[in-house]
This record gives sequence, C-alpha cells and structure tokens, in this order.
Amino acid sequence: MKPITINDLRKWKTQGHKFASVTAYDASFAQLFESQAMPVILVGDSLGMVLHGQNDTLSVSIEHIAYHTRAVRKGSPNCLLMADMPFMSYATPQDACQNAAPLMQAGANMVKMEGGAWLAETITTLTQRSVPVCAHLGLLPQSVNIYGGYKVQGKEQEQAERLLNDALALEKAGAQMLVLECVPASLAATITQALTIPVIGIGAGSHTDGQILVMHDMFGISANYIPKFSKNYLAVSGDMRKAVAQYIDEVAQGIFPDAEHTLA
Ligand code: KIV
Repeated sequence: MKPITINDLRKWKTQGHKFASVTAYDASFAQLFESQAMPVILVGDSLGMVLHGQNDTLSVSIEHIAYHTRAVRKGSPNCLLMADMPFMSYATPQDACQNAAPLMQAGANMVKMEGGAWLAETITTLTQRSVPVCAHLGLLPQSVNIYGGYKVQGKEQEQAERLLNDALALEKAGAQMLVLECVPASLAATITQALTIPVIGIGAGSHTDGQILVMHDMFGISANYIPKFSKNYLAVSGDMRKAVAQYIDEVAQGIFPDAEHTLA
C-alpha cells in the first residue's frame, strides 16, 4: 500500500469514493489492517474502554495514546494515522500544542479532538504549528457526564443547526477532517455536503465520505456491549482478514451502513 495522505482523502471525497477506517492500538492489528489496504487508522481514546475495561474514556492519558501510536505506526507504516487527544489535554491552545507534540513524534499524521466552535482558536494554533487536526462533533464521549449518558445528538432542529455551524467554523479554522458520531443520517448528509474536508461517520448513516468502527466492535469482541450501528464482520466472514476486507468493500460499495446499522 502506498502512503495515504489527506490529499488522497480529499480527492476521494470529490470522486465520491467512500473509504473505511478503523481504530487500532497495537502493531499486529495495524499490520493486519494495512495488509488489507485500510487507508485510515485511529488510535482512539476508546482504548480506555476496550483495552482497560473502563466505563468511559476519561482516564486515558497522553502517555497511553503516544505508547499505542508508536506501536500502530510500526505495524502500519503507510496508513494515515490519527491519534486522539485525551480528555483535558487540549483545554487551552497551549495545552494542545504541548500535548500534540508527543503524538506527532510517536508517528501520528493528525490529531483528533472533540468539541465545537470553541476549538477554532486551538485548531488554528495547531495548524499554524504544523499539526493537522481532525475535529470530532456529534456525540462526544469525553462529554458523557454533561449528557448523562451516551445519546444521539442533533435530533432537534436547534441542535442540528448548531452542529452544522460548528462544523463550518471548525473547517474555517483549519480542521482537515471531521468525525461525526451518532447523529441522524440526514444531518450527517447535510454536513458532509456543506464541507470541503472529508467527513467520517460512526453511527451517522451512509452519506458521509468515510466510515469508522472501533476494531473490537467490528470483530464482535467488545467486553461490554456492541452498539447498534456497528457490524460484527468476524461473525459474517469467520476470518479476521476477510472480515476487514469485507468491511472496506461494503463501505466502498455503499452497502455498510445499511438501515439496520443506522440510528435515526
Ligand atoms: O476513540 C475512538 O475510538 C473514537 C471513535 C469512536 C471515532 O473517537
């Protein structure tokens, strides 16, 4: 696989070529994903839940993400590798600069952070200092204590308008990509069309430019529960490599996510 860059993803968006992505936390799975030409990998702070068994992502540290980013980069030298900025690591633009550096040095091509228009200054600051940023809107797992649970976002008109405005503001601030989590499919379609940057959905229907799944959900091995929008590809194919290949193919063909794996 040739190295994947943000330019490839932008080109795919204009061509309507839908792409898959997945989380990974170690070199062996990263290598397995790269062997099937997975273009984008995220070292997500979901590792707090799927690796550490926590109920949320809040205990994850920069050291955890840097450690796993280094391992994933070893296994997948060519994917576009994103690393999550953990809870409170980007509370100010200065914090963000200080904490993004070890993730980029560990091999990330881009960092991801959760939040709306309040992040505009941080995104501009990081971008000016050569750190590409993927914004994350919709359900923000680091805000679970504000919501009082994991809930679909953007169902009401006012909330939907705020999300669209946030997305536009973050793109204007310099965000190079957007993850949209657990929003109605129609809202995800509107936001995807309104932006020039690639939009990756999870629980956001089939109209985004790309899809992402937590790898433990994709293999049906998550310790606690598997979200409705996720599909157990290992159960379908019975083999890990085939499971990954089928996921990539179903996203490219627009087969996944189907109605069964769409929230609203
Ligand atoms: O941490 C993570 O795995 C994520 C995905 C759910 C997008 O942010």
